[in-house]
Amino acid sequence: MPVHDPTDLQNLEEALWTLVAGGALPGQRRTLLSRLLCSPEFHAICLEWRSGPAAAHALEEPGRWSATSQERFVRVAYECLLGRPADDSGLAHYVAALGSGETRTGVLRSLVLSEEFEQRYRGLPRDVQLCELANPAKWDNEEWVDLLRSLGLSDDKLSMHRKPYEFAQLLFGCRRLGALRADSTIVSVGAGHELVLYWLANHARRVIGTDLYEGVWRHMQGREGNPDVMRRPEAYAPFPYRQAHLIFMQMDGRHLAFRDGSFDIAYSLSSIEHFGGMREAVATVREMARVLKPGGVLALATEYVIQGPSHDETFQPAEFAALIDQPGLELVEPIDTQVYRRYAHSAVDLYKNPFQTPHMVVRFNDTVFTTVMAFLRRT
Ligand SMILES: C[S@@+](CC[C@H](N)C(=O)[O-])C[C@H]1O[C@@H](n2cnc3c(N)ncnc32)[C@H](O)[C@@H]1O
Repeated sequence: MPVHDPTDLQNLEEALWTLVAGGALPGQRRTLLSRLLCSPEFHAICLEWRSGPAAAHALEEPGRWSATSQERFVRVAYECLLGRPADDSGLAHYVAALGSGETRTGVLRSLVLSEEFEQRYRGLPRDVQLCELANPAKWDNEEWVDLLRSLGLSDDKLSMHRKPYEFAQLLFGCRRLGALRADSTIVSVGAGHELVLYWLANHARRVIGTDLYEGVWRHMQGREGNPDVMRRPEAYAPFPYRQAHLIFMQMDGRHLAFRDGSFDIAYSLSSIEHFGGMREAVATVREMARVLKPGGVLALATEYVIQGPSHDETFQPAEFAALIDQPGLELVEPIDTQVYRRYAHSAVDLYKNPFQTPHMVVRFNDTVFTTVMAFLRRT
């Protein structure tokens, strides 16, 4: 997890300083604080602090902090991190620790490592995260919603749906991870004629959509596997696009016909669960990893059971964990699988009313599931 981007640290330092010094108005402080705690940069620092004592000094102490008294620093740290006033014994403990040479970063780290902070942090709607279950909170994130609109899709919450979520989240994640650039090369596996390919063609150097383009998918559902897209890609374009930047190729995701290390991004949306089972899905993830450049990003969206028995073409949590646990791949952050503990939902019955919206959590009989989105780095 890269934490040492100097700009991230500088921004964090500024935000912390404003909070600690109390320079902001109460409303601004609340906004700043929630943004800070929800930011991926803060999350990265938490992970680093949790990973062992040696990492404790990774955050360089801003000299300006010394203008605040030790007692005030501890009080504000409690308010910011634990959301409550410091109790007498905690205050005395940390002030004494500072008096005997503990650093202020060390105090923040101890609070972040406490069980109390853990519990509070788990409950925060961290709507900037990348690895998560399809998350309604993203519709409140302006940066994310801008991407959704740029795809020509509605931002109306009543028509919230997993498919637009996957498209926007793919772009949001790849951009935040620095993988989506004008010179990027991108492959999609089980691509059909998905809309997001055309958006990518307008923003990246080379985009290849691959799919079997045969069998049942030629005729069923949205005819995603229709081979006609290889002959007439422009007929499926939702908006004008740079035709020279996008090609479609017939290819089995389990055996990609590309050299090792060819792409900056390899992704697959709502497809891998249809490839024939766990063994086939694992083979596909390994192939996607193989064709990625070192440091490249693998983005995977598939069906994740949140309640009930197994069902064809869905993954139970343990199966999904095993699927992405492949050599040469590393999750960019832990997956937030608790989204639907924070959001009330009623699962859309796919047998009775498959077109009902909002369409974020669905079910086949007793199997309730949603989309999981994971971003992994090629190590
Ligand atoms: C539900 S569709 C999803 C298409 C597209 N990703 C989207 O989001 O609109 C699943 C796709 O997987 C393709 N597919 C099935 N097995 C495949 C395999 N072994 N290799 C590549 N594509 C496959 C199907 O042809 C179909 O187009």
